[in-house]
Amino acid sequence: MTKPQHPVLVVDFGAQYAQLIARRVREAHIYSEIVPHSISAEQLADRQPGALIFSGGPKSVHIDGSPRIHPDIYKLGIPTLGICYGAQLIAHDLGGKVTHTGIGEYGRTPLSLHKKGMLLTTWASASNTPNTEQQVWMSHFDSITHLPEDFVITAHTPQAPIAAFENTQQRIFGVQFHPEVAHTPAGQKILEQFLYEGADLSPNWTTKSFIDEAIVGIQTQIGQNRAICGLSGGVDSAVAAALVHRAIGNHLTCVFVDTGLMRQNEGQHIINAFRRSQGIDLIAVDASERFFASLAGITEPEEKRKIIGELFIRVFEDTAEQMNKANFLVQGTLYPDVIESGSHTAAKIKSHHNVGGIPEKMNFELVEPLKDLFKDEVRAIGTELGLPNEIVWRHPFPGPGLGVRVIGEITPHKVTLLTKADAIVRAEITAAGLEQHIWQTFAVLPDIRTVGIMGDERTYGHLVVIRAVTSEDAMTADWARLPYELLEKMSNRIINEVKGINRVAYDITSKPPGTIEWE
Ligand code: XMP
Repeated sequence: MTKPQHPVLVVDFGAQYAQLIARRVREAHIYSEIVPHSISAEQLADRQPGALIFSGGPKSVHIDGSPRIHPDIYKLGIPTLGICYGAQLIAHDLGGKVTHTGIGEYGRTPLSLHKKGMLLTTWASASNTPNTEQQVWMSHFDSITHLPEDFVITAHTPQAPIAAFENTQQRIFGVQFHPEVAHTPAGQKILEQFLYEGADLSPNWTTKSFIDEAIVGIQTQIGQNRAICGLSGGVDSAVAAALVHRAIGNHLTCVFVDTGLMRQNEGQHIINAFRRSQGIDLIAVDASERFFASLAGITEPEEKRKIIGELFIRVFEDTAEQMNKANFLVQGTLYPDVIESGSHTAAKIKSHHNVGGIPEKMNFELVEPLKDLFKDEVRAIGTELGLPNEIVWRHPFPGPGLGVRVIGEITPHKVTLLTKADAIVRAEITAAGLEQHIWQTFAVLPDIRTVGIMGDERTYGHLVVIRAVTSEDAMTADWARLPYELLEKMSNRIINEVKGINRVAYDITSKPPGTIEWE
């Protein structure tokens, strides 16, 4: 796949915010990627970056073994912005001084602007904000106390005499605060000032430009060959399929494996969205009986996952075998998967991706057109490609499907109960207009039955648990503060409409300590 030219490379010094910096740059319509600080000057120059941003980091420049960059990188003449640790490193490396003053600053801090300066003052005086003071977010314990030669101070805070500095000739800038976080209200403007003015970059990375370039890349990779894509109903595989279809038309075939553990009307949804509205060649395989048979009597969560994952692959491979010799496999791998793999340059394939895991040995070459994108960018691409909202804004759904939401043995009857309850939960979230504010919402069927009373009669029915979480990336999550009225409506509807369920509970566990799924 081709990459956009002249990316802004975020050099990662172990910051918790490196991803956030890259996202902010992309929000300014300039393509950005994260690279490790160990990158050599040669590797870096090969990427022909339009600018560099040195991230923050937890270490002090005075500690032995603290992360550094190769000094030749400064000689490349690339416009550079240092943030927090990154700013300290620039000051330290170019002949200034960083001191452990013993007085740090944490949280919201007033930043006083000096008169001259491109990064802060030019922007502040061009806007209507009072141009002498800004609120910024600080988190540092060392301070820059002397600047390298030819640099000027452009701002200070109560505890940081040099809170921002620059050398416009060399196009090197440093800020002690964090412009990338929401707590620095002018942060995005400051980053844009660096990108557009400091580095002279143009905001031309858009969903449309991404699609155009991706199509050329896919066509070059696949040529006249054929590709297949497993569709799970999730947004990533859906967008990847739509994009590849744009590029190679009916040389792509999609496969939807119905495991019997899908959400209500999932299969129909996918068939409608792809075969009918996108005109994509789609094979639907009903493998539900095979799945239920293999899962009979199994209660241990990991064993269930293993059985489902393996069987999925077998069905998928059987189907691929019957197709006309596809030798490319389309995957909806995203940038966070690549970053989490620990390598910034090569994608490691996750064992439980959208298709539920792919075998180690395959005669397929992978096509991963989304591997440089974040989830929200994938959604924007999906919208641009004309995918319906209900696909683009679909909540994530695990590969093993409802199999990890039916606790204890999985039976068709339990899955039917759960499917109905789950459909009600999701429909009510949609009706309340909350779908796009919540990361995931679903129902869980624990292996518990409880006593109740309905119409003067004793009942002994199943418990259903509602799960709704907010999250940025599923690594951490908080239980959603749903309105009581909404919870009440869901509970009433589930008990009235799903025979066999007589009690509803709401899960108020965050991640950590819980996980989003129950198994
Ligand atoms: P947990 O339960 O670990 O889930 O907090 C984090 C996110 O990952 C999804 N998930 C999976 N996705 N295959 C997938 O494709 C899986 O086996 C799997 N298990 C969990 C989960 O729905 C949540 O969004």
